[in-house]
Amino acid sequence: MSKRRDESFEQDMHSEKSALHRPDGKTLRLGVLISGSGSNLQALIDAIEDGTLTGVEIALVVSNNGQAQGVQRALRHKVPVIYLPWTRSVGAARRAHQCIAPKKMPESEERLTKLLQLFEVDLIVLAGWMRILSGTFLEQFPQRVINLHPALLPDDGMGSTYTTQDGTAIPVFRGLHAVRQALDAGVKVTGSSVHYVTAEVDAGPVICREEVVVEEGDTEESLHERIKRVEHRLVVEAVRRWGRDHSAASGVQAI
Ligand code: GRF
Repeated sequence: MSKRRDESFEQDMHSEKSALHRPDGKTLRLGVLISGSGSNLQALIDAIEDGTLTGVEIALVVSNNGQAQGVQRALRHKVPVIYLPWTRSVGAARRAHQCIAPKKMPESEERLTKLLQLFEVDLIVLAGWMRILSGTFLEQFPQRVINLHPALLPDDGMGSTYTTQDGTAIPVFRGLHAVRQALDAGVKVTGSSVHYVTAEVDAGPVICREEVVVEEGDTEESLHERIKRVEHRLVVEAVRRWGRDHSAASGVQAI
């Protein structure tokens, strides 16, 4: 280990909120959290397998849904995958929506934390993960949880309007039905954003983003399919950028 790298390791060790813990120059280890079809997980698997995304491996896939198609995708590619049933008390769910950090993490989040630590995950990718994570959980992984959202978010993730490339201001669509909201609002352009996850839902700083034109006759399904095709590139690019941005400080191998 060089002196420089040694120093940054020392800093990491003494910084409570160090971005990463891989000063050994090893491969960047992803933890991918899914709930459904897992086409974005597949995009990551494919990019790693075909060499488009180097210096990265998927250390673990976690699904809160045992029947999710994404579980089969992981198994087919011999990627470790765990089904983690997700239970939350009503109080915890309410606190999460109100962004009030509970004193103690819900049991499911405690289990998830242990798994991510056990598998030495560096970066957590929410790829169609349909559960809200509490502020207490997120505080353990500062700048290390990213999410794919099928709508356009402003650079800092905040605010209620987004200005598209043609200068039109459109509403920011958050939550589970962002694609439907875009259609209902009659916008001409929507898209997808990969962003850091913060305690507020779909409101963290953007890593990368791309617009998708709404076509006449689009249904929620047809529009979401086109958005997903864009996402499959975006998620790979976001991991690459994250690795690049965090490698210098952490000692993680450059991608
Ligand atoms: C994506 O559109 C993502 O933006 C949203 O959930 C969808 C997941 O799709 N959060 P898949 O499971 O990766 O196919």
